[in-house]
Amino acid sequence: MRRLELRAFGAPEVIRLVDDEAPPEPGPGEVRVRVEASSLAFTDTLIRRNLYPVLKLRLPLTPGYDFIGRIDSVGPGVARWRVGDRVADLIQTGGNTTHLVRPAATLVAVPQRLDATRAEPLVLSYLTAHQALFREAEAKRGDQVLVYGATGAVGMAALDLCRAFGLPAVGVASARRERIVNGLGAAFVAYDEPDSAGKLDRLARERKGFRVIIDAARGEALSSVTSRLAPDGRLVVLGFSAPFRDARRNGRQQPGLMARLGFAFDFLRIKWLASRPGTSRRISFYDIVQRRVRRPDDFRDDLTTLFGLLEDGRISPRVQTVFRLDEAVEAHRLIESGRVVGRLVLDLASPIGDGGGGVAYPRAESRKTAATALRDAVRG
Ligand SMILES: NC(=O)c1ccc[n+]([C@@H]2O[C@H](COP(=O)([O-])OP(=O)(O)OC[C@H]3O[C@@H](n4cnc5c(N)ncnc54)[C@H](OP(=O)(O)O)[C@@H]3O)[C@@H](O)[C@H]2O)c1
Repeated sequence: MRRLELRAFGAPEVIRLVDDEAPPEPGPGEVRVRVEASSLAFTDTLIRRNLYPVLKLRLPLTPGYDFIGRIDSVGPGVARWRVGDRVADLIQTGGNTTHLVRPAATLVAVPQRLDATRAEPLVLSYLTAHQALFREAEAKRGDQVLVYGATGAVGMAALDLCRAFGLPAVGVASARRERIVNGLGAAFVAYDEPDSAGKLDRLARERKGFRVIIDAARGEALSSVTSRLAPDGRLVVLGFSAPFRDARRNGRQQPGLMARLGFAFDFLRIKWLASRPGTSRRISFYDIVQRRVRRPDDFRDDLTTLFGLLEDGRISPRVQTVFRLDEAVEAHRLIESGRVVGRLVLDLASPIGDGGGGVAYPRAESRKTAATALRDAVRG
């Protein structure tokens, strides 16, 4: 068994590869999974730095917010699953490993013919986008949608789903991302160009307000964002990428204390506004874990729906690079460089050790391409 381990919080270099432990045995009501793919997402870097809100983290820990794999051992009393079944789960930590033991009851079935590294982004990134759009905001065909953080893992998933379900969308990211956002069928506004707020205001007026706004960045004043909602509009806030981007641009690895206090205050304000009844415009803060605790059936149903959409070719997750366990430090550096478009994925099925720096996706492409991209990213 091989896995990643954090014995301290901090920069990517705190990640260690632990080798040759015996795989754990499943107890009653549990199964053991041979993991095929797991997350390498912005959220995993927050956990590595101990900046992930709410979750009380204890060291040592194995990172990895989710996984897809095959059951290779079934504990006593489990009737639902057999050896060889393919499953996925969202676990917050512990997914970056070749083997893990999970309660049988929480797993979701994954179709046998899906490629695990292509399907893995559905568990965290697509599920977040899907539930924000369709559960929280109750989006319907034809609704006008605005997405902040449009080329991140969640933002791209949201635009992909908008395209699949006939929702006209506008995406906000930095100016260099225009072609990518347009390629997903969405209009584009750059947050780092003059008059970006004016452009968004104009687009909002032309549409009589956005029926749905998904904010994964929190880069603009809340009052400006809400002013662009339609009278019956829904704002779903789900992340804080902008303060991290600002810190990077100022040569820091993470937001300073004042910036962190700023987004903690922003978070509390959103929660307070979300709790106020009586207005037709609604604000909510989406949290994938809390929502799953409240509505476990929605989690299972929505993830099953997403696997079906991928099987049918209706959605197309953008996996920029697939990394192996021994390349995790480079992968975390790449995420923190701000140069990932869409998602990175950890491949647990391939053997490790022949050097490299990530495999450009699809895997048939040369390793050199990814290694070059990585060197540029680390230099940049
Ligand atoms: N609440 C939940 O349940 C949940 C679930 C999953 C993720 N999240 C959170 O959601 C956020 C996004 O996650 P991710 O994985 O998609 O992150 P990511 O891949 O790092 O996405 C960053 C995106 O934000 C954009 N961005 C940065 N500053 C911006 C600004 N001022 N205005 C508009 N866009 C801006 C970036 O554009 P450029 O690259 O062009 O600068 C990029 O498109 C994170 O905070 C993550 O922790 C929350």
